[in-house]
Amino acid sequence: MHTLIKEIDYGTPKSEATRMVTLEIDGQSVTVPEGTSIMRAAMELGTKIPKLCATDSMKSFGSCRLCLVEIEGRKGTPASCTTPVAPGLKVKTQTDHLADLRKGVMELYISDHPLDCLTCAANGDCELQDMAGAVGLREVRYGYEGDNHVFAKNNGSENFRYQPKDESNPYFTFDPSKCIVCSRCVRACEEVQGTFALTIDGRGFASHVSAGMDEDFLASECVSCGACVQACPTATLTEKSIIDKGQPDHSVVTTCAYCGVGCSFKAEMKGDEVVRMMPYKDGGANEGHSCVKGRFAWGYATHQNRMLKPMLREKFTDPWREVSWDEAIDFTAKRFLEIQAKHGIGSIGGITSSRCTNEEVYVVQKMIRAAFHNNNVDTCARVCHSPTGYGLRQTFGTSAGTQDFKSVDKSDVILIIGANPTDAHPVFASRMKKRLRDGAKLIVIDPRRTDIVRSPHIEAQYHLPLLPGTNVAIFNAFAHVVVTEGLVKRDYVAERCDLEDFARWEKFISDPKNSPEALEAITGVLAADVRGAARLFATGGNGAIYYGLGVTEHSQGSTMVMAMANLAMATGNIGRDGVGVNPLRGQNNVQGSCDMGSFPHEFTGYRHVADNTVRDLFEKLWNVELDAEPGLRIPNMFNAAIEGTFKGLFVQGEDIAQSDPNTKHVNSALESLECLVVQDLFLNETAAFAHVFLPGTSFLEKDGTFTNAERRINRVRPVMAPKQGMQEWEVVARIATAMGYPMGYTTESEIMDEIARVTPTFAGVSFEKLDRLGSVQWPCNDAAPEGTPIMHIGKFVRGKGRFMVTEFVPTDERTNRFFPLILTTGRILSQYNVGAQTRRTANVAWHPEDVLEIHPHDAEERGIKDGAMVSLTSRVGAITLRAVIADRMPQGVVYTTFHHPVTGANVITTNNSDWATNCPEYKVTAVQVTVSNRPSDWQAEWEQRETEHKRVAIKPLVAAE
Ligand code: SF4
Ligand code: SF4
Ligand code: SF4
Ligand code: FES
Repeated sequence: MHTLIKEIDYGTPKSEATRMVTLEIDGQSVTVPEGTSIMRAAMELGTKIPKLCATDSMKSFGSCRLCLVEIEGRKGTPASCTTPVAPGLKVKTQTDHLADLRKGVMELYISDHPLDCLTCAANGDCELQDMAGAVGLREVRYGYEGDNHVFAKNNGSENFRYQPKDESNPYFTFDPSKCIVCSRCVRACEEVQGTFALTIDGRGFASHVSAGMDEDFLASECVSCGACVQACPTATLTEKSIIDKGQPDHSVVTTCAYCGVGCSFKAEMKGDEVVRMMPYKDGGANEGHSCVKGRFAWGYATHQNRMLKPMLREKFTDPWREVSWDEAIDFTAKRFLEIQAKHGIGSIGGITSSRCTNEEVYVVQKMIRAAFHNNNVDTCARVCHSPTGYGLRQTFGTSAGTQDFKSVDKSDVILIIGANPTDAHPVFASRMKKRLRDGAKLIVIDPRRTDIVRSPHIEAQYHLPLLPGTNVAIFNAFAHVVVTEGLVKRDYVAERCDLEDFARWEKFISDPKNSPEALEAITGVLAADVRGAARLFATGGNGAIYYGLGVTEHSQGSTMVMAMANLAMATGNIGRDGVGVNPLRGQNNVQGSCDMGSFPHEFTGYRHVADNTVRDLFEKLWNVELDAEPGLRIPNMFNAAIEGTFKGLFVQGEDIAQSDPNTKHVNSALESLECLVVQDLFLNETAAFAHVFLPGTSFLEKDGTFTNAERRINRVRPVMAPKQGMQEWEVVARIATAMGYPMGYTTESEIMDEIARVTPTFAGVSFEKLDRLGSVQWPCNDAAPEGTPIMHIGKFVRGKGRFMVTEFVPTDERTNRFFPLILTTGRILSQYNVGAQTRRTANVAWHPEDVLEIHPHDAEERGIKDGAMVSLTSRVGAITLRAVIADRMPQGVVYTTFHHPVTGANVITTNNSDWATNCPEYKVTAVQVTVSNRPSDWQAEWEQRETEHKRVAIKPLVAAE
C-alpha cells in the first residue's frame, strides 16, 4: 500500500549515555538514558508535547516556550526540551494552566504570521498549523497594526507589502513573511551541516534570518544542502518542487546514486512523479542529512536528452537507427559471436559501472565470464580505487575500508590526505566537522588549502601542502618519526602483526633517507611540521586516516595505501572505534562493483580466478567451464584495440571517453573496435564511437543494492517503472542468452541470493534482511549475521597484519622548462564526475564550466588575469579553459575539474599509472599555462561531434512502448 512515511520527531537528540533513569510522565513510568530531555522521554511513551523550536536533529534551544510542563515539587513551568530527566520525577504535560500558557504563546505566533494557509505550499505539512490545532487555538486577538514579520513597509508610505521573497536558490525559496524566527534553520546550518551560513540579525520584531550582509542565498556561503529547509517548521524555507507540484502522497525509501557516502532518502512521490527527496533519518550512512546533489539534483532522470529507445548503426560514423529491444539484443549477440569466431575468444570484453547496482554489475561480469568465456572484465574502479583494494588486501587481508562513518565520532586525531570531503563526500564531511568542532585535532595533507583546513570553528593543527606525487615520501617520513622517536605501539604490534615483516619494515623506515629532513626537498614540506604532525598522530589518542583519489591516482598509489596501513598498525590504530584506514570512495557503488567480481583476476569477494576451488564453485553453479587466466585490464583493452587484437567492448554506464586519461589514446582505441555497445542514460562521449546504444535506467527505476564506502549494503528501490521498458540486468541476461549462455533470473532478489551463495562475505545478505534491518555492512554471514561495522577487531582478516616496505620512487612525469607546473585534478561539490547527471540539473548555477585554479605568482609571471582564457598544455595534449587566481593553490601547482566534456581535462592527462593496478596517475601532469584567446583543437573537435550527437540525441522524453 502506498503511504507517506512520516518519521517520528522526538524533539531532541538521542542520549548516548548508558546509565538509565526512570521517571513518571502523566502517571506512566518510563525509563530512558541519562541526559534525555523530558520532551523525548514523553515521546517514547507516545506523548507529543507541543513544540516549535525543537527538533531531534539538533540540540534543544528553548526559545518558543510552547513545550512547557509541570514537575511535581518544582516551581514554574520549565521547557521540556531543555530539561533533562531525573530519577523519580513526576511530570505533567497536560493541565489547564499549561493549556492556557500554550494558547497564549501560539496566539502571539499566529498574530505575526500570514493567514493564507489554504494557498500555502506547506498546507498539510506545517508544524505551526499543527501546533495551532494541538493547543486548540480558536481566535487571535491581535492584528498586523504594529511591527510584525509579515509585511515590509513600503518606503514609509501607508502602503504595505509582504516581505520580499528570496528566490535566488534554484531549489528552494525563502519567504520571510512566514518566518517565526525559531532559528531552527540557523542551528541546522551550524550543527547538522557545519557551514554557518545563516544568522538571526536584529532584535524583537526586527529580528530576521539572514544569509549574510546584503546577500541572497545563492551569493552567500550556503552550499544548498537543504538542512535548513528540512528543519523549517513553516513554509518560510520551502522546496520549489513542493511549491510547483504540491504535497506528496507516498514515499519510497531508496539510496542516493551520486557519491560513496550512500545516503538514504525517502523519495516523496505523487503518482510516479518525484516531488521531493527527503533524507531518511534511519539511513545508516547519513542519519537524515544530505547534500545538494542527493536532495535536489535528481531532475536528470527525466531530462529531455535521456535516450529511451535502443539504437544501432553499422559504423560509428553512420546515423543512429532506432530499433526494437529484440533487434538490438540479437545484433549485439551476433556481432560479438562473429568477432570471437574471427579474432578469438579473447577479442571481446566488458566494463562494469560503479553507478549501477550490485545485481546489475554481477550479471555483466557473469555474462563476460560465462557467455564471452573469458575474464576480460574490468571496472571504472580501475581508474579510482583499485590501489585501495590491492594495498589493504596485502596489509590487512581485505579490500575495503575498516570503519563505519559513525566511528569518526570517537576519533581524536583525524588525518585527511588526498581527499576533499566537503566537496566530494559532503554528508560525511559534516559529520567529521562536527567531531572537529567538538575537539578532535586535524591534520590535512594536500597541495591545496582545501575548505576543511580552515572553516567556521575549525582550524587544522597542521596543513602540509606537499608537492603532488610525493605522498609516499611524506608518509615514510611520518613513519620514520614514529619509529625513531620511540612512538611505536610495541604491544599492539607484538600481538597483532607479523614480526618478521615488522622488523624488515622498521629497519627500512629507520634509515635516515626516510627522515623528514632528508625528504624536505622532495615533499616541499618543512621537516619540523612533519615531525609535529607525526607526533600528534602517534600520541593524540584515536588516530583515523581518511583518504581519497589524491592517494590512489598516482604511480605509487598502491604503495601509498600500504604506507598508510603501516602507519596505522605501528600506532595501534586499527580494530576499534575512532581509528582506521578509510577510503572515501568516489562513486555510489564503487565498493560494490569491486566486491562483485569486476576485476579481470577476481571472482566476487576478491577470490583469484586461478584458485581451483573457487573456480570449481562457480563452474558448478553456473554450469560452464571458466577461464583460469586473468583477463585484460581497461588500459590493456585500449592497447589491444589499437594493436588490432581486441574488437568488441560492452560498456555499462561509464563514459570512458571522458573519464579515462589521455583522451586521444582512448578515442583511437574506441575507433578501432568493430562492435562497441554502450548501456547508458545519455548519448555520452563514449557513445560517439558506439555501434549499439542500449538505454539504461536511472536510480529511480532500479531495484537492487548499492554498497557504500563503509561496506554498507543499502537497498535501491524503484519509485517508477523503467522508462525504457526493461531493467538493465534483463537486457544483459538476454544478450548472454542470445550468445548461448541462458540466464533466467526473474527478480533482482534472486540475483542477490546467488551472490550470497557464491560470496562468503555476502553469505548472510538477502533483500528480506536488508528490508528488515535497513542495511548491513559486509562481512555479513553466520559469524556476523547483522554485518560488521568495524573490521579487524582482535585480529586482522589475514591473521597477522603485514608491514610492507614502501620505497619512495618518484613518478616519471617530471617538470622541465617547457612544462614547469604540475596539474592536479579533482571535483567540486555541485558537479559529479563526468557531469552527465549534474550538468542536466540546476546545479550548473554553481559550476557552469571547469576552470583552472592558479597561484597569484604563477599567474602574474605569465601575465594571466583572473577570468582570462588560458591554454593548458601537457606532453600529450592541449586544452583551453578559464583561469581563476586562487591563493589556496601552492606555487607551481595548478588544479582543474573534469565535469564538462567541452573542457577535455583528460586530453592532457598521461598514460602513467600505478605500478600494481594500472590506476591512472591523474594527479600529476607536467603542464604549461599560457594566455590564449582561441579554442583548442580538442574543443573544435568536440563541438563538431556534439553537433552530430545533438542531431540524433535531443528529443522529448517519452515513455517507451
Ligand atoms: S541549505 Fe544548507 S548550507 Fe545553505 S543555509 Fe541551509 S543549511 Fe546552510
Ligand atoms: S526560516 Fe523557518 S526555521 Fe528559520 S527561523 Fe524562520 S521559521 Fe524558523
Ligand atoms: S553525500 Fe553523496 S550520497 Fe549523500 S546525498 Fe550527497 S551525493 Fe548523495
Ligand atoms: S520546543 Fe521547547 S522551547 Fe521550543
